[in-house]
Amino acid sequence: MQIINHLGPLRDRIDQLREDGAHVALVPTMGALHAGHMSLVRAAKARADAIVTSIFVNPTQFGEGEDLDAYPRTLEADAAMLAAEGVDIVWAPPVSEVYPEGFSTSIHMTGLSDDYCGSARPGHFDGVALIVAKLFNQVRPALAFFGEKDWQQLAVIRRMASDLDFDLEIAGVPIMRDKDGLALSSRNRYLSDEERQAAIVLPQALAAAAEEIRHGGDVAEILEKAIAKLVAAGFDQPDYFALVDSVSLERLGAPTAGPMRLLAAAKIGRTRLIDNLEV
Ligand code: PAF
Repeated sequence: MQIINHLGPLRDRIDQLREDGAHVALVPTMGALHAGHMSLVRAAKARADAIVTSIFVNPTQFGEGEDLDAYPRTLEADAAMLAAEGVDIVWAPPVSEVYPEGFSTSIHMTGLSDDYCGSARPGHFDGVALIVAKLFNQVRPALAFFGEKDWQQLAVIRRMASDLDFDLEIAGVPIMRDKDGLALSSRNRYLSDEERQAAIVLPQALAAAAEEIRHGGDVAEILEKAIAKLVAAGFDQPDYFALVDSVSLERLGAPTAGPMRLLAAAKIGRTRLIDNLEV
């Protein structure tokens, strides 16, 4: 496995792989890797000949007062995990390589990015779209893999890739959960023992709400009950706890025939957790 920090050598290596006819897959990450990321790598390995994993804590997707500086940076441990999974290239550029002095371009997303994490974290999805578009141009993958834990992010990235005519396949990979149900996240390591215990109320509230919606209960009442459960367990008032159309992400006040999903985000202590569940 090669760890590459500069664009020139990355481009040379990717050119070589493409000349050899390799189907290249990209797994974009911000590092602090866990089993969820490894499931993305495994999904990529099943579909491609060469795997590039990017590790870059992208400053443009963090807002004022968010955890950019505190975000865990664990490159050595990450590289060991990726090597063990048979990743070919770790693309780990410094910020100055990605956003050199004079950098002036932005991407502004609307529609899918407006609500949920988009309204709770203004500018977040513009930053995600920008870095992902840059990664697509840098690596030129045939396939790229993203976790379904960030359901809205996956939808926004699909939209951006289609809008900007990127010629690649975007694959979503199901959420990995701890034994007790908490979705794996790099931010789980911020949780105190007490918060970690209380955090399982988030997947529990999603599961209970999904079940009640399936049984035909009143959606507004079910969502209110779920929010009350979270607050009683020690979460702040959630940023959102919503029933949505899985594709358009439109809020649903009542079940529809199409695919539906519950999306939720809430802070416990200083840690913001997100999760979602198919209904
Ligand atoms: O999901 C993430 O870890 C990040 O948002 C991504 C897609 C790597 C872009 O920085």
